[in-house]
Amino acid sequence: MWRLTRQIIVIASFIVAGLLIQIEPLAAHGDEKHGKANEMSNHMQAMYALKGEIPEEYRIMERTPIIPDKQSLNRGKELYNQQCAVCHGKEGRGDGAAAKSLTTPPANFLDLEHSSIYGPGEKFWILGNGSGDTGMPAFPQIDLVDRWNLVNYVLELQGPENMNQGQMHHH
Ligand code: HEC
Repeated sequence: MWRLTRQIIVIASFIVAGLLIQIEPLAAHGDEKHGKANEMSNHMQAMYALKGEIPEEYRIMERTPIIPDKQSLNRGKELYNQQCAVCHGKEGRGDGAAAKSLTTPPANFLDLEHSSIYGPGEKFWILGNGSGDTGMPAFPQIDLVDRWNLVNYVLELQGPENMNQGQMHHH
């Protein structure tokens, strides 16, 4: 009888030890994830979630295929003021007249920590497809060259040193 009890105790302690070993890393992992979630705003999370949806061929593009010359930038500016400034603001600070009505604020292109999450190809893709539930509309009616003209202009708003460099920007 004593032997049986001892066996049960031994087996039980193995089970408990096994559980502890399994639970420990899970708990640590959970904490780590929780901490990161707190650090990263919902806004940033939405941006990274969207990034995951963008096909790789757009993600890896480091430059726009349209040279950001005067003609391209002028055309980009014209379209931007007509169709984008209402949300993103004339200078790209995300402070257009319609900005307050949106749950997710429109991107402030001058906040490079945010905006450089998306490279030029990704910005182009977002223009054609919109960005899910953030309130960034899709603009499939803008033709492809003009979408690049717009990306060129947005990059120019960010300042000359970022021109056409997108995510090549390093902190
Ligand atoms: C109805 C308001 C609205 C309009 C109009 C609008 N946007 Fe947006 N835009 C948003 C919101 C909201 C987001 C998502 C917030 C974010 O990504 O930080 C966004 C995100 C973006 C992004 C991705 C973020 C980044 O910094 O790269 C780009 C690029 C962009 N918009 C470009 C444009 C361009 C170009 C136009 C005009 C053709 C335009 N948007 C018109 C609201 C708008």
